[in-house]
Amino acid sequence: MDYRVKDISLASEGKKRIDWAEAHMPVLVSLRKKFEDSKPLKDIIVTGCLHVTKETGVLVRTLKAAGAELSWCGCNPLSTQDDVAASIASDEKVAVFAVRGVSTEEYYNDIHSAMKTNPDITIDDGADLTLEMHKAIERLHNKPIGGTEETTTGVVRLRSMERAGKLMYPIIAVNDAETKHDFDNVYGTGQSALDGIIRATNILVSGKNLVVAGYGHVGKGIAKKGSGLGANVIVTEVNPIAALKAKLDGYSVTTMAQAASTGDVFITTTGCKGVINEEDISRMKNGAILANAGHFNVEISVDALDTKARNKKSINDHTTQYEMKNGNRVYLIGQGRLVNLAAAEGHPSEVMDMSFANQFLSVLKLSKSNGNLEPKVYNIDKEQDEEIALSKLSSMGVEIDKLTEEQKRYIHSFDEGT
Ligand SMILES: NC(=O)c1ccc[n+]([C@@H]2O[C@H](COP(=O)([O-])OP(=O)(O)OC[C@H]3O[C@@H](n4cnc5c(N)ncnc54)[C@H](O)[C@@H]3O)[C@@H](O)[C@H]2O)c1
Repeated sequence: MDYRVKDISLASEGKKRIDWAEAHMPVLVSLRKKFEDSKPLKDIIVTGCLHVTKETGVLVRTLKAAGAELSWCGCNPLSTQDDVAASIASDEKVAVFAVRGVSTEEYYNDIHSAMKTNPDITIDDGADLTLEMHKAIERLHNKPIGGTEETTTGVVRLRSMERAGKLMYPIIAVNDAETKHDFDNVYGTGQSALDGIIRATNILVSGKNLVVAGYGHVGKGIAKKGSGLGANVIVTEVNPIAALKAKLDGYSVTTMAQAASTGDVFITTTGCKGVINEEDISRMKNGAILANAGHFNVEISVDALDTKARNKKSINDHTTQYEMKNGNRVYLIGQGRLVNLAAAEGHPSEVMDMSFANQFLSVLKLSKSNGNLEPKVYNIDKEQDEEIALSKLSSMGVEIDKLTEEQKRYIHSFDEGT
């Protein structure tokens, strides 16, 4: 079996971490138990391009137990956990191509290596694998039955391909499941992005001016957790409705140009490019800390830092100090890549439990479709969302009420008033 990991001898460490994640992912484990005997994914080749974390290790185990033949690669140059990659290769016997800290060229080479199995189903996060599959489809023996997409930015890219008539196989938008974006993006990134900043700097968040660019799912999660830690949260937005929500949630709302000079810590969460530009950086206070939680490293102008700083040095594994021409120092965490994976461990396992249960059930759905779905971007069924939410609640020992027949009739009728 071919694979490319940093150091295969790290496998036993990786295995322990995957075991830890597994103990915190009851929904995914229950799906494994449900399907490990019937093996519904037998003879299905799946290529995954997800952050290679301990939680991904549990998804790999689950897909394998259901009979899938797997190959894997990372979806970001700086997010692979090398010990987990080693365990996926050594213990799970999966052809994984992922090393932390690769160049762009190595990153794409790894995607191409993973694609060599000619997959029936792709699992993606950010749409890089899906795009590479599209470029290669002419050369491959057969088109995939379908694929899944994990994150907002990936879904945005794939919907854009669909509109342009360029999408060649169906994609299930896992991100758009309520049990994904309302939990993973909000609670997962909300906590882990701050975790990344704290691990990289050990700053006291309390009392800091925390500027959050974007008040979507990720932004509102970070704002809430930052506020809980005692930060004074300032939000920047381009969408008037999101800006209004931030204002009524109790935060200051202003432009980045204004916030630049008052912020102590900046986190971008927009999925957009050039959110913190050269001019903004020139206004920042001495000691300002910059981090990004959006999918790609385009939100903070790292180029401006690299070209305009008079001095650049690494001060620890995750933090780079830039001395600007005015003498101020600004600090960039994780090279402007997603801070929760570059400087911490990514989302807690408990929240990835639901995201990856959605991934698993979506792969199962695609495998049953026999290639009969049109090349479109599909939403998750409401039933799948509710099944996952119920399973998660039950794992937490939570019971909820059920509608009576009379209540069901009432909420769907119009004839009963005052
Ligand atoms: N780090 C992670 O682990 C992680 C997890 C989930 C999502 N993501 C990524 O985070 C990004 C945001 O995801 P989301 O689900 O919150 O998306 P979202 O669409 O819910 O929110 C994005 C918000 O940013 C705002 N925005 C866009 N351009 C802006 C700009 N120039 N300035 C200020 N605000 C701007 C939008 O109006 C919107 O309200 C995406 O790239 C997504 O893929 C990362």
